[in-house]
Amino acid sequence: MGKHGRKQKHRSRCHFDGGDNESDCLPASAYNGCITSADAEEQEREEEKENEEGNDRYRLVPADAPSKFDLYQKSVQSPKGDISYLMKFFLLYVGGRLPLHLQEDFCGTALLSTEWLRGDPRRTAIGLDMDLEALLWCLDNNINKIGSDSSSRLSLFHGNVLQPDKASLIDYKCQGATNSTNSDSIFEESAVHATALKPNEQFDPQKHIDCKGCTKKIDSLPGRDIVCAFNYSCCCLQSRAELIVYFKHAHSCLSRKGGIFVMDLYGGTSSEAKLRLKRRFSNFTYVWEQEDFDIINRTTRISLHFHVGKREIIPHAFSYNWRLWSLPEIKDCLLEAGFRYVHFWIREMPDTNERGNSEEFNAGRDVKYEELSSFQQRDAWNAYIVAVTS
Ligand SMILES: C[S@@+](CC[C@H](N)C(=O)[O-])C[C@H]1O[C@@H](n2cnc3c(N)ncnc32)[C@H](O)[C@@H]1O
Repeated sequence: MGKHGRKQKHRSRCHFDGGDNESDCLPASAYNGCITSADAEEQEREEEKENEEGNDRYRLVPADAPSKFDLYQKSVQSPKGDISYLMKFFLLYVGGRLPLHLQEDFCGTALLSTEWLRGDPRRTAIGLDMDLEALLWCLDNNINKIGSDSSSRLSLFHGNVLQPDKASLIDYKCQGATNSTNSDSIFEESAVHATALKPNEQFDPQKHIDCKGCTKKIDSLPGRDIVCAFNYSCCCLQSRAELIVYFKHAHSCLSRKGGIFVMDLYGGTSSEAKLRLKRRFSNFTYVWEQEDFDIINRTTRISLHFHVGKREIIPHAFSYNWRLWSLPEIKDCLLEAGFRYVHFWIREMPDTNERGNSEEFNAGRDVKYEELSSFQQRDAWNAYIVAVTS
């Protein structure tokens, strides 16, 4: 999971303040490094030195460590910012109606979907991910905050985006995460019966899920207005053939009245090299680590770590092997998959070499995404790619 350092929260200069006023924020991203003050840099160097000196007790994840999903959501995601761009793109390229039905592919903890449902009682959302632990965490920590009226409009599917027809619906009514009594609920035909995790309990598929009685299929649901894949998730797909299969699925579930598929991508010269970016929050530090970049396969390994004080509290909380696609490669595959138009919205990100220069960082904070047909290479950029059906 992840995107920050190329995208960033508007205001936060490394301090998470609860995220309640995000509507005017730019979306966050995992690849979003923080410019820290000279003092803070010095402190970080000391902390790193201590860790490197082999203080093994700091390498263990303490029992009272916060959940990696919670830290991820606080540091990486800004669902309100993403949603305001999704609305803008839909009204601009489709128009004529309000978008109400969203599918969030590679949804992880489906934070975007739960936020989507808050905005309008007519909205529905579908989340699809292959990480059952993240989906179950969503039940306990995101869905239970939106109330049963909203949660009955959310369908979570466990499965592979390349084979959505085989994905299983998670029936969370049965495990008490919500009290939905809505007889029209899309959860009537249950699928994966999931048991909630207790605090700090390790996820064990055999103990926590029961896949009997699965009947509801993702492709039987009404057409979606928007399908999205955020935090660079399409980089998880490593071959062109896979990318096209996935885009065809995304295209096929969009409404016949017209719809959009939106994904994001990062790039720039800094994305093709080893890199470590940090963002400080009030009670933890987020680290984006990029390993060496293989120019033949255009692959890299990204790891997200979380530090609390001097302790590397959750090293390698999330790790991904990614293929870094280029914008024209994505465009070609989208057109081949059946989309009619592809638009690029790009913003330059703060220069990763300018760490310590807070003025530079502040200057970059208000830069918004712009629709562009040409953009000269920079140190770092983020893009929304918007594909339109008709
Ligand atoms: C980088 S995370 C993004 C999570 C979330 N979309 C966000 O914005 O933060 C990538 C997610 O994709 C999921 N994933 C990777 N490959 C997948 C696949 N083939 N099918 C379904 N989910 C997949 C992972 O489990 C992970 O939750």
